[in-house]
Amino acid sequence: MEEKYIELIHKAQLAYENAYAPYSNYKVGAAVLWDSGAITTGVNMENASYGLTVCAERNAIAAGIGTGERKIDAIAIAVPSEDLPAPCGACRQVLREFSTDCTILLANGKRESKITDLKKLFPYGFGPEFLKKL
Ligand code: THU
Repeated sequence: MEEKYIELIHKAQLAYENAYAPYSNYKVGAAVLWDSGAITTGVNMENASYGLTVCAERNAIAAGIGTGERKIDAIAIAVPSEDLPAPCGACRQVLREFSTDCTILLANGKRESKITDLKKLFPYGFGPEFLKKL
Protein backbone atom coordinates (compact mmCIF):
# COMPACT_ATOMS: atom_id res chain seq x y z
CA MET A 1 0.00 0.00 0.00
CA GLU A 2 1.19 3.54 -0.83
CA GLU A 3 2.95 5.38 2.00
CA LYS A 4 0.38 8.23 2.00
CA TYR A 5 -2.39 5.71 2.69
CA ILE A 6 -0.45 4.03 5.48
CA GLU A 7 0.00 7.47 7.06
CA LEU A 8 -3.72 8.21 6.67
CA ILE A 9 -4.66 4.96 8.41
CA HIS A 10 -2.23 5.80 11.19
CA LYS A 11 -3.90 9.19 11.69
CA ALA A 12 -7.33 7.53 11.89
CA GLN A 13 -5.94 5.09 14.47
CA LEU A 14 -4.52 7.91 16.59
CA ALA A 15 -7.89 9.67 16.36
CA TYR A 16 -10.02 6.81 17.68
CA GLU A 17 -8.30 7.10 21.06
CA ASN A 18 -10.43 10.22 21.52
CA ALA A 19 -13.70 8.68 20.29
CA TYR A 20 -16.64 9.47 22.55
CA ALA A 21 -18.57 6.21 22.52
CA PRO A 22 -19.73 5.52 26.10
CA TYR A 23 -23.00 3.83 24.96
CA SER A 24 -21.90 1.51 22.14
CA ASN A 25 -18.27 1.25 23.24
CA TYR A 26 -17.54 1.01 19.47
CA LYS A 27 -14.76 3.51 18.87
CA VAL A 28 -14.16 4.84 15.37
CA GLY A 29 -11.54 7.22 13.99
CA ALA A 30 -11.50 8.74 10.51
CA ALA A 31 -8.90 10.73 8.59
CA VAL A 32 -9.71 12.52 5.33
CA LEU A 33 -7.08 13.39 2.71
CA TRP A 34 -8.28 16.39 0.68
CA ASP A 35 -7.13 17.33 -2.83
CA SER A 36 -5.09 20.19 -1.30
CA GLY A 37 -3.02 17.64 0.61
CA ALA A 38 -4.58 18.67 3.93
CA ILE A 39 -5.69 15.96 6.34
CA THR A 40 -8.53 16.33 8.83
CA THR A 41 -9.59 13.82 11.44
CA GLY A 42 -12.73 13.01 13.38
CA VAL A 43 -14.16 10.52 15.84
CA ASN A 44 -17.63 9.23 16.58
CA MET A 45 -19.47 11.39 19.07
CA GLU A 46 -22.37 9.73 20.85
CA ASN A 47 -25.10 11.36 22.90
CA ALA A 48 -27.40 10.33 25.76
CA SER A 49 -30.15 11.15 23.27
CA TYR A 50 -28.92 8.28 21.07
CA GLY A 51 -30.23 9.56 17.75
CA LEU A 52 -27.94 12.59 17.92
CA THR A 53 -24.83 10.44 17.51
CA VAL A 54 -22.49 11.60 14.73
CA CYS A 55 -20.13 9.18 12.99
CA ALA A 56 -16.35 9.65 12.81
CA GLU A 57 -16.45 10.01 9.03
CA ARG A 58 -18.88 12.93 9.05
CA ASN A 59 -16.98 14.68 11.83
CA ALA A 60 -13.72 14.32 9.87
CA ILE A 61 -15.42 15.69 6.74
CA ALA A 62 -16.99 18.61 8.62
CA ALA A 63 -13.57 19.59 9.99
CA GLY A 64 -12.27 19.97 6.43
CA ILE A 65 -15.33 21.79 5.12
CA GLY A 66 -14.86 24.30 7.94
CA THR A 67 -11.36 25.12 6.73
CA GLY A 68 -12.43 25.56 3.10
CA GLU A 69 -11.76 22.07 1.69
CA ARG A 70 -14.22 20.73 -0.88
CA LYS A 71 -12.77 17.69 -2.70
CA ILE A 72 -11.96 14.39 -0.97
CA ASP A 73 -9.16 12.20 -2.36
CA ALA A 74 -9.21 9.49 0.31
CA ILE A 75 -10.63 8.58 3.70
CA ALA A 76 -9.26 6.12 6.25
CA ILE A 77 -11.63 4.60 8.78
CA ALA A 78 -10.09 2.75 11.71
CA VAL A 79 -11.45 0.79 14.66
CA PRO A 80 -9.67 -0.99 17.53
CA SER A 81 -12.09 -3.92 17.31
CA GLU A 82 -11.45 -7.08 15.31
CA ASP A 83 -13.76 -6.72 12.31
CA LEU A 84 -12.95 -4.26 9.54
CA PRO A 85 -15.28 -1.23 9.74
CA ALA A 86 -17.81 -0.25 7.09
CA PRO A 87 -19.04 3.31 6.63
CA CYS A 88 -22.78 3.64 7.28
CA GLY A 89 -25.18 4.64 4.53
CA ALA A 90 -25.46 8.23 5.74
CA CYS A 91 -21.68 8.66 5.65
CA ARG A 92 -21.51 7.18 2.12
CA GLN A 93 -24.03 9.81 1.00
CA VAL A 94 -22.04 12.61 2.66
CA LEU A 95 -18.80 11.36 1.04
CA ARG A 96 -20.64 11.45 -2.31
CA GLU A 97 -21.21 15.18 -1.86
CA PHE A 98 -17.45 15.80 -2.01
CA SER A 99 -16.26 12.97 -4.27
CA THR A 100 -17.54 10.42 -6.76
CA ASP A 101 -14.62 8.02 -6.55
CA CYS A 102 -12.47 8.63 -3.45
CA THR A 103 -10.27 5.87 -2.09
CA ILE A 104 -11.61 4.28 1.09
CA LEU A 105 -9.24 2.58 3.51
CA LEU A 106 -10.57 0.34 6.27
CA ALA A 107 -8.44 -0.82 9.19
CA ASN A 108 -9.13 -2.96 12.25
CA GLY A 109 -7.32 -3.60 15.53
CA LYS A 110 -5.61 -6.72 14.17
CA ARG A 111 -3.39 -4.66 11.85
CA GLU A 112 -5.50 -5.75 8.86
CA SER A 113 -6.63 -3.29 6.20
CA LYS A 114 -8.63 -3.18 3.01
CA ILE A 115 -8.58 -0.66 0.18
CA THR A 116 -11.75 0.08 -1.74
CA ASP A 117 -13.45 3.15 -3.22
CA LEU A 118 -16.69 5.09 -3.20
CA LYS A 119 -17.74 3.84 -6.65
CA LYS A 120 -17.79 0.31 -5.24
CA LEU A 121 -19.40 1.15 -1.89
CA PHE A 122 -21.95 3.65 -3.23
CA PRO A 123 -22.86 2.89 -6.84
CA TYR A 124 -25.44 5.02 -8.68
CA GLY A 125 -25.42 7.59 -5.87
CA PHE A 126 -27.31 10.87 -5.86
CA GLY A 127 -24.98 13.86 -5.85
CA PRO A 128 -24.72 17.62 -6.37
CA GLU A 129 -24.48 17.44 -10.17
CA PHE A 130 -28.09 16.22 -10.38
CA LEU A 131 -29.23 19.60 -9.08
CA LYS A 132 -27.00 21.57 -11.46
CA LYS A 133 -28.92 20.16 -14.46
CA LEU A 134 -32.29 21.62 -13.47
N1 THU B 1 -20.07 4.67 13.64
C1 THU B 1 -19.14 5.46 13.03
O1 THU B 1 -18.60 6.38 13.64
N2 THU B 1 -18.84 5.19 11.75
C2 THU B 1 -19.32 4.15 11.04
O2 THU B 1 -18.96 3.99 9.89
C3 THU B 1 -20.27 3.21 11.65
C4 THU B 1 -20.80 3.62 12.96
C5 THU B 1 -20.34 4.88 15.06
C6 THU B 1 -21.66 5.48 15.39
C7 THU B 1 -21.84 5.00 16.81
O3 THU B 1 -21.16 5.89 17.68
C8 THU B 1 -21.14 3.67 16.86
O4 THU B 1 -20.30 3.64 15.72
C9 THU B 1 -22.06 2.48 16.84
O5 THU B 1 -22.98 2.59 15.81
